[in-house]
Amino acid sequence: MLDDLESILFSREQIADRVQEVGRTISRDYASTQPLVIGVLKGAFVFLADLVRRIDIPVEIDFMAISSYGASTKSSGVVKIIKDLDVPVEGRHVLVVEDIVDTGMTLSYLRDVLLRRGAASVKIVTAFDKPARRVVAIAPDYCCFEVPNAFLVGYGLDYSERYRHLPCVGVLRPDIYSGE
Ligand code: PRP
Repeated sequence: MLDDLESILFSREQIADRVQEVGRTISRDYASTQPLVIGVLKGAFVFLADLVRRIDIPVEIDFMAISSYGASTKSSGVVKIIKDLDVPVEGRHVLVVEDIVDTGMTLSYLRDVLLRRGAASVKIVTAFDKPARRVVAIAPDYCCFEVPNAFLVGYGLDYSERYRHLPCVGVLRPDIYSGE
C-alpha cells in the first residue's frame, strides 16, 4: 500500500505526537465541562479514536454521517444527514471531530444544525486543514496539521474507500487515480 504513495507527509510518530498535544489542549480548555464529542463518519474514525484516548477529562462520544446530495451539489453546500446523533445536543458543549476541512461546507452546515438545535457551544477539531480549498469562511478551533492542496490518503482519508487504514498520511501517486 505504501508503494502507492508519492511521498509521506506525516509519519505515524509525527501524528501521534501532535494528537497528544492537541488532546492536552482540549483537556485543559474543557476542564470544567463534559463535552459531547461528535465524529463525522467515515473519515474521522481513526483520528477520533486516537484523540479521545489523549483527552483526560470525561467526554461523551457520538457519531454523525453526512453526505452531499449527489456529486454535482457538493459545491452548493447542500448536505444531507445520513446518520443522526443518538443524544440531544441542547445545552451541550459540542466538539466536532473531522479528518479534514476542505471547502468548509460540511462543517459550516453541521455547525449551523448543531447551534439551531441549541448546543451551548460548537467547536471543531480536525486532523488536517487544507485552507487553499476553502469556499466558506470557517476555521477549525483545533488543528493538528495544515496541509497543501494535494491528493492525500491515510489516517482516515480515502481514495474510493481505500487507504483509510494507513497509519501515516501521504500524497497518492497520480497514476493511481488518473484516467477516472
Ligand atoms: C470529507 C471529510 C469531511 C469533508 C470535508 O468527507 O471527512 O467530512 O469531506 O470536505 P468539505 O470541507 O469540502 O466539506 P467525505 O465526504 O469525503 O466522506 P468520508 O468522511 O466518508 O470520506
